[in-house]
Amino acid sequence: MCGIVGILGRGPVAGSIIEALKRLEYRGYDSAGIATLENGHLARRRAAGKLKTLEACLAAEPLSGASGIGHTRWATHGRPTESNAHPHANGKVAIVHNGIIENFRELREELRGKGHKFESDTDSEVVAHLFADAMEGGLSPVDAVAASLPRLKGAFALAVLFEGEDDLLIGARDGAPLVVGFGNGERAGEVYLGSDALALAPFTDEFAYLEDGDFVILSRHGVEFRDTHNQRVERHHMRSPVSALLVDKGNYRHFMAKEIHEQPEVVARTLAHYLDMSAGTVALPFALPADAAQLPRLTIAACGTAYIAGLVARYWFERFARLPVDIEVASEFRYREPPMERGGLTLFISQSGETADTLACLRYAKAHDQKILSVVNVPTSTMARESDIAALTLAGPEIGVASTKAFTCQLALLACLALAFGRARGVIDAAQEAKYVAELMAVPGLMAEAMKREPRIEALARDLARARDVLYLGRGTSYPLALEGALKLKEISYIHAEGYAAGELKHGPIALVDNDLPVIILAPHDNVFDKTLSNMQEVAARGGRLILITDASVPGDFSGEVEAITMPKMAPNFSAIVYAVPVQMIAYHTAIFMGKDADQPRNLAKSVTVE
Ligand code: F6R
Repeated sequence: MCGIVGILGRGPVAGSIIEALKRLEYRGYDSAGIATLENGHLARRRAAGKLKTLEACLAAEPLSGASGIGHTRWATHGRPTESNAHPHANGKVAIVHNGIIENFRELREELRGKGHKFESDTDSEVVAHLFADAMEGGLSPVDAVAASLPRLKGAFALAVLFEGEDDLLIGARDGAPLVVGFGNGERAGEVYLGSDALALAPFTDEFAYLEDGDFVILSRHGVEFRDTHNQRVERHHMRSPVSALLVDKGNYRHFMAKEIHEQPEVVARTLAHYLDMSAGTVALPFALPADAAQLPRLTIAACGTAYIAGLVARYWFERFARLPVDIEVASEFRYREPPMERGGLTLFISQSGETADTLACLRYAKAHDQKILSVVNVPTSTMARESDIAALTLAGPEIGVASTKAFTCQLALLACLALAFGRARGVIDAAQEAKYVAELMAVPGLMAEAMKREPRIEALARDLARARDVLYLGRGTSYPLALEGALKLKEISYIHAEGYAAGELKHGPIALVDNDLPVIILAPHDNVFDKTLSNMQEVAARGGRLILITDASVPGDFSGEVEAITMPKMAPNFSAIVYAVPVQMIAYHTAIFMGKDADQPRNLAKSVTVE
């Protein structure tokens, strides 16, 4: 995704901003820009292409301000042109933004109605105008930001500079990372903002991370954090040498927690790579196999969590593309030696791209004249190299052994693929595609919102930590997610857990239900919600302990006791991506209450290169 930097310095900051942007270039690289305050006035330099183009631009027309912000862009809304490059500015405010502002169209219309003029096709520009509008209404810069942030829907990190305010920089985060750096030694008094600490490492080793919903007011004389209710809060200061930053946990205790929280950002990044968000279409960076329209079926093979991603995707390929799907765990597939029709398409899903069983299936399929499409996270992996098409999930390195962000990125990419096949096969039309793309674009923001349920989930996990067994139930795409919930809990807390299709309950597992068995029900408000509710009644009638994860309200006549995790309201098609968040958090917090090492569970390895 994009990278952002802000500096309040003691001398000209343009050079330092470029230095920090270079360290962020891995996040996005189609255009870049910088704004500084020149004698109190906002001045910008922006350029399409790599950072060196911006550097050339600055060499020709230098900026000398001591306060500035910078950005490297990975286009989501609008082509990578100079006018779409950040910072976006309007004479009062300049902003750099990472993420997606979902409700930008409504806000832009409202602001146009008040006379604001827009220069770009981006979602981000609306933020600069929103802040400026609040200031025109008489608010101070800080109050304008505080009043406007609650109006932004989506996942974002922001850095904001104000005309005439040489000693003020504001940062905000909701679903995308942002860290404050504190200058020390020769740089004492300087303060910094960055998308990650590594970007700020040349200037300082002292950091404090914003939490979701926070904004931060920086001045050379001090830094003030405010929470989502605009209340002053303290955020933990830490010292991290550069070497530690290379594999940095940020302000999280475990990589798993960090990777759970990174999901709104990396899912947005993955979606941005496979969608044209402005056009509302899927835009794959590769051609589908020529016979996509005629394909009789799709075969999927994978292991563990990646296999579960395939199970979810089966619903999508069948629903959106009417494409029959055969799916199997790779370790069974390879020895079953299934007959394969010549010229068929086989899809492999793997975070590492090195899993021995999946790789063996890939080679078997290749030997049987299949086209190979792989969804992998490691671009240099064997599977990526040996596939006809390697579709990359842009989750970044996943360090925690239990897969979290790779899973949701796999889902995001598989959803894009299912829609692309749907269009190629004439099953969905352009209007349906646009509707589903809009639903997908809402996912990162919904995930960021779902993260806010963490305190509630932590409280529930305290009780779950005493359970001997846990049952997960779901229907539709929530059924594979129930399997994933059980797998996550087993692998990091060692509590025995099972996932079942809710309708299967009465065919056996209901015998397990007693007062001691927690039953976690994944029930987005979809077409089978009422049926899931009936299954809940069956559990309640037998004294089972119900934990319901839903965006629907439980009917008043429900007879049992239910502990609910209330999810943000959403169209149900892609709920599996959003509901993965509480499922992962339940496993994580339960394991932590039990004193387990969530990052390195016993007996497990990150990449399983043996059978
Ligand atoms: C579970 C988990 C494993 C992996 C599986 C496949 O949290 O991480 O089940 O999903 O070992 O690994 P990859 O995706 O690397 O092929």
